[in-house]
Amino acid sequence: MSPRKHHATPESAVEHVHDAFGTAEWWRTAVIYQVYPRSFADSDGDGNGDLGGIRNRLAYLHDLGVDAIWISPFYPSPQADGGYDVADHRDVDPMYGTLADADDLIAAAHALGIRVIIDIVPNHTSDEHPWFQAALAAGPGSPERARYWFVDSPGVPNNWPSEFGGPAWTQVADGQWYLHLFDRKQPDLNWENPEVREMFAGTLRFWLDRGVDGFRIDVAHHLVKAPGLSDVDADWDAYNRGALPTNAVPFADQDGVHDIYRQWRALLDSYPGERAMVAEAWVTPHDRLARYVRADEFQQAFNFDYMRATWDADALRAQIRTTLRNADSVGAPATWVLSNHDVIRHATRLVRADPTMAPWILEATEPRPDTGLGLRRARAATALMLALPGSSYLYQGEELGLREVIELPAKARTDPDFLRGGGHRLGRDGCRVPIPWTKDAPAFGFNDTGASWLPQPADFGDYAVDRQRGRDGSTLELYRSLLAVRRQRQLGNGSLALVDLRPDVVALDVTNDRGTTRIVLNLGSAPWPIPASARVLVASTDGVTDLLPTDCAVWLTD
Ligand code: GLC
Ligand code: MG
Repeated sequence: MSPRKHHATPESAVEHVHDAFGTAEWWRTAVIYQVYPRSFADSDGDGNGDLGGIRNRLAYLHDLGVDAIWISPFYPSPQADGGYDVADHRDVDPMYGTLADADDLIAAAHALGIRVIIDIVPNHTSDEHPWFQAALAAGPGSPERARYWFVDSPGVPNNWPSEFGGPAWTQVADGQWYLHLFDRKQPDLNWENPEVREMFAGTLRFWLDRGVDGFRIDVAHHLVKAPGLSDVDADWDAYNRGALPTNAVPFADQDGVHDIYRQWRALLDSYPGERAMVAEAWVTPHDRLARYVRADEFQQAFNFDYMRATWDADALRAQIRTTLRNADSVGAPATWVLSNHDVIRHATRLVRADPTMAPWILEATEPRPDTGLGLRRARAATALMLALPGSSYLYQGEELGLREVIELPAKARTDPDFLRGGGHRLGRDGCRVPIPWTKDAPAFGFNDTGASWLPQPADFGDYAVDRQRGRDGSTLELYRSLLAVRRQRQLGNGSLALVDLRPDVVALDVTNDRGTTRIVLNLGSAPWPIPASARVLVASTDGVTDLLPTDCAVWLTD
């Protein structure tokens, strides 16, 4: 735990929050780039990105300056939930390629010094997984059904909601019901069953043997359900806004999950190299999340409370302080993330009308936000994030400044969150639209046939990589600069102090043996005067020299 001293300097008050890490494992400071494979790059022109496409673009990721990639699921899947409905954990979907392509991709990434993290989905399988098909065939009371949650009547009835809308239970032909916290094509596994535990330990070994550097564990907080499957009595809306602790419902953040992760950690540690796992655990408050990153569990957990912070100096300062304090209490690195495949892209989200709305919920009636202001804020938010000690996650396309594609036509949408939501929620397809690489090319260079599984809007051409690479002031060049300076100044590992410059300005000093870097983000309406003695290392908006405008961030040194 870091000491927190408050001492006044002639210039401003400083609050020491965090000390540098004593050890230097790669995952403490890595910048990890999330690839959503269906939408990244398409090598065979079928309109779906694939492993070959990722491999072809590794040089781009190397040039961008990331340390690792996390690839969302590429396993055989009916794609009822974008591949998070897995039918075989130890193979590659033909849409994405073959196991040999996975091996090639891992080897090619490693040759460039890029580590590879893959996604493991242990809470549920696809209903087309052989286990679920066997469970349906075997009937009530069978060992096959005991791998899932089959009941005669759901808690008479149990009121658990599916995350995507509607009830979490579906009835099968013989009258039993099965649990699915997500889509009905994603039956929940019963983690009390030793066969389930063995199957996943074998799956982790399968991929560790193929050379992956780690795993992102999907909905790590859901695996264990409270005994008795009692009704939810929490207010679901307040729950979704993050206003209640995650374990206020009987199917989330139950203490029993930690045994599973201790076993997995021991398994990872039995392999050479620093294999790591990151928890996708939407767990609040921070001290509950910290339990997932105790020394013998996950190395990292996504910091979704930070993602949810409103665009407000006090809120951001509070999140930075609480995040570091709680991570330090268990010796774990903090993590930071602004966008992923489940939430509204931050270039859109940071200007939405109701900033307290859950970031994954996009309501059909929501007003369309201002794209220019959104991008300006997004760039400033990223500049703050990439200076913070610990590990940061980027989501493909954010380095181009991509916006959420809210206007996708209903017939193009595939997300169960839209399909089950009765049209009230638009779902997550809008952050999964294929990436523009070349403005004047079919599908903006996503492939060379022009096919695209989701339609790309016309303005995506202006965001294309070829329009931004080498162009001063572009979002891509901003990301490249931030990552380069972060590396030179080793910002992932330093002490952090919050500096009190002005209530509506977030300012912090990151200090290590490369010196002190001061990061200033202006959230107020008046410009902040940059001291004449300071040198601007990088600024989120072009042409910042002596005044830092509203919604801009700057990295300074003496
Ligand atoms: C995670 C994934 C999300 C998926 C859900 C169910 O939250 O990130 O995309 O829908 O789990 O697997
Ligand atoms: Mg393809």
